[in-house]
Amino acid sequence: MARADAQSATQGVPIPSDQSSRAACEKTFKPSTGQPGKDVVWVPTNDALVTRMLDMAKVTKNDLVYDLGAGDGKIAIAAAKQFGARAVGVEYNPDMARLAQCLVRAEGVADKVRVIQGDIFETDFSDASVLTLYLLPELNLRLRPIILKMKPGTRVVSHSFLMDNWQPDESTVSGDGSAYLWIVPADAKGKWTFKQQRGKDRFDVELVQTFQKLNGTAGPGKKPLTEGELRGTQIAMTFSEGDVHTRLKGELKGNRIEAEVTRNDQTSTYIGTRR
Ligand SMILES: C[S@@+](CC[C@H](N)C(=O)[O-])C[C@H]1O[C@@H](n2cnc3c(N)ncnc32)[C@H](O)[C@@H]1O
Repeated sequence: MARADAQSATQGVPIPSDQSSRAACEKTFKPSTGQPGKDVVWVPTNDALVTRMLDMAKVTKNDLVYDLGAGDGKIAIAAAKQFGARAVGVEYNPDMARLAQCLVRAEGVADKVRVIQGDIFETDFSDASVLTLYLLPELNLRLRPIILKMKPGTRVVSHSFLMDNWQPDESTVSGDGSAYLWIVPADAKGKWTFKQQRGKDRFDVELVQTFQKLNGTAGPGKKPLTEGELRGTQIAMTFSEGDVHTRLKGELKGNRIEAEVTRNDQTSTYIGTRR
């Protein structure tokens, strides 16, 4: 897969010479709702929902936001103008990509935003920290295996459409429309041993992972977890053996979890290692 670059942005399609306003940009091409793209037509997300989607993803100036199927570039432009992020819009329709490139300049965010004319299924967006989507359920599902291989903690926000049996971490539904947030989970599956950092306590946990949900067993009695969840690299679980109740909250990095563990009201640091 070729890494997207600025050179591929225009693909020989001229950008209007006057790029001072939307009206100037639309002199050469004025889009209409429902016009063809490749896999889905163009329908813009309304302004209020654009802001809400970026809010849900907690976008900051440190983020690189990719809008897959960028239309007129409004989500990428808002990510830069309202949140100070860098952003890339990927748009298949060349007329639309050209318009979006013009609007990026008209809105004064050319230092932060690029629009690439290309197919989202042939573009490398692995450097994104946030993805925004307004596509179709089946397109979300085609993207899902690629998304699940992205860096844990990458946030994905989709307007209207879900990811089949990968439940969103957050949902918002209002008069502006619906939006869903997923946080790419770290890989937590397998057998772990947790040892108290300053003490002798230890316990084993075996985790079975389905997206961000964790099931499995803990302790010598292999008691089932009562709760288990990942939010990116943040891991949390609870289990009970007899009258010993354990609550664990930690950060997973590769084969190590540094966790605060509370066992019967005593909290201390434990280090988990994957066996
Ligand atoms: C529903 S619109 C959403 C536009 C924008 N993201 C927004 O929310 O306002 C979907 C966009 O995806 C574009 N598109 C469709 N298939 C595509 C593909 N395979 N690669 C890149 N863009 C595509 C369409 O041309 C259209 O502009």
